[in-house]
Parts: sequence; C-alpha cells; structure tokens
Amino acid sequence: MGKVVVFDHPLIQHKLTHIRDIDTGTKEFRELVDEVATLMAFDITRDLPLEEIDVKTPVATAKSKVLSGKKLGIVPILRAGIGMVDGILKLIPAAKVGHVGLYRDPETLQPIEYYVKLPTDVEERDFIVVDPMLATGGSAVEAIHSLKKRGAKNIKFMCLIAAPEGVDTLKEAHPDVDIFIAALDEKLNEKGYIVPGLGDAGDRLFGTK
Ligand code: PRP
Ligand code: URA
Repeated sequence: MGKVVVFDHPLIQHKLTHIRDIDTGTKEFRELVDEVATLMAFDITRDLPLEEIDVKTPVATAKSKVLSGKKLGIVPILRAGIGMVDGILKLIPAAKVGHVGLYRDPETLQPIEYYVKLPTDVEERDFIVVDPMLATGGSAVEAIHSLKKRGAKNIKFMCLIAAPEGVDTLKEAHPDVDIFIAALDEKLNEKGYIVPGLGDAGDRLFGTK
C-alpha cells in the first residue's frame, strides 16, 4: 500500500496560508505555488538512488555521491498542475515533462480527458503527477490510469490541498501510488470544492473566472 504524507514543515504551512487567502492576487499566488512545489519536491526526492564517485577537490580526492541517473518525469494535470512544474524543475532540471489534460464536468464532476503527451520512454521513468487540488479524486485517478495504460510503473502524486474523499478514492484506485499533500482539509462542498480549500486553483493561477 502506498503511503500518504502530509507535510508539516513550517515554511510550507506558512506559504499555504497565503495561497488560501482570498486577498492574494494572481502574481503572488503563482509565486507561492511555485515555492511550495520546490519545497515539497525537496522531500519527495529523498529516496533517489545515489552512487559514489571520485571528485578532485583543490586539496585531495574525495569519495562523494551523485544521483545515479534515475530518469524522472513530471506530469502536471492541466491546467492547474502547470503551476507546480517550474518549482520542481528548479531541483530536478533533467526531468522530462509530460502533460495530461483533464477537466471536471461541472454537473457530474467526472473528469474528461482532452490531451495526453508523455515522454517516449515512459516505461523507463519514475513519474511525479502534480495538481494543486485533490477533491473528489476523479482527475488524479484518471491521469494516473492514463500513465499506467501507456506503460508507467512507478508513480507518485503530489498536491497542495486534498479532501479526505479524494485521498480515499485515489488510494483505492491506485494503492501502489504514494500521495504527498501540503494540507488535508475538512471536506467537499455540494459543488465538489474543497472546504476550506483555496477556491478554483486554475482560475487563481491564470487569472480567469
Ligand atoms: C481542478 C483541479 C484538479 C481537479 C480536482 O481542475 O486542478 O485537476 O479540479 O478535482 P477532482 O479531484 O474532483 O477531480 P479543473 O477540472 O477545474 O480544471 P482546470 O485546472 O482546467 O481549471
Ligand atoms: N478544483 C479546484 O480548483 N478547487 C477545488 O476546491 C476543487 C477542485
């Protein structure tokens, strides 16, 4: 069974408070999402394999470690997942970026897929699927299903805010996937929005309504 990790780091919690705030404008919202994505990525990558090499310092030769060439892929769920990509790439610039386009039908809340483009070597990569919101869980379940259908085997899911319903649905559909969350909120409202949440992540990132 995959693990569920809720980050309690003070910097993440502080920035998340400002992300939630209705008075935070688009520019600051985008910057904060980017920063939190970087902080979360720092911890999520703690299990990356290392190998030892010799490196010449100005003083002597040191046995020191480097990443051992694990191939990574980041997959934002469009649109809002895009806001988390650059923050992760700051730490893992060699990662390739795939995209899965989904939107929730406003009536049924079911995810509708409209776009998929992944790196060609899907089977050789470990993936981090990113989306700020895990609400009913439908979008995350569908995006991960889409990756698995194309050969992805090792997948993590990272989001800013999750509802308990979404975590349960995702765990049940993809028990092998580790879930990383900055905050686990109370519930969903009748429109499928996370309460208290942050509102519509895509609209707040891109300034649409
Ligand atoms: C939002 C959000 C997630 C999804 C979460 O996207 O970014 O992808 O809803 O909801 P779920 O867990 O109930 O599926 P939305 O469908 O609003 O599309 P957008 O990012 O294009 O605005
Ligand atoms: N999508 C969002 O953008 N916000 C929510 O609260 C739920 C789904």
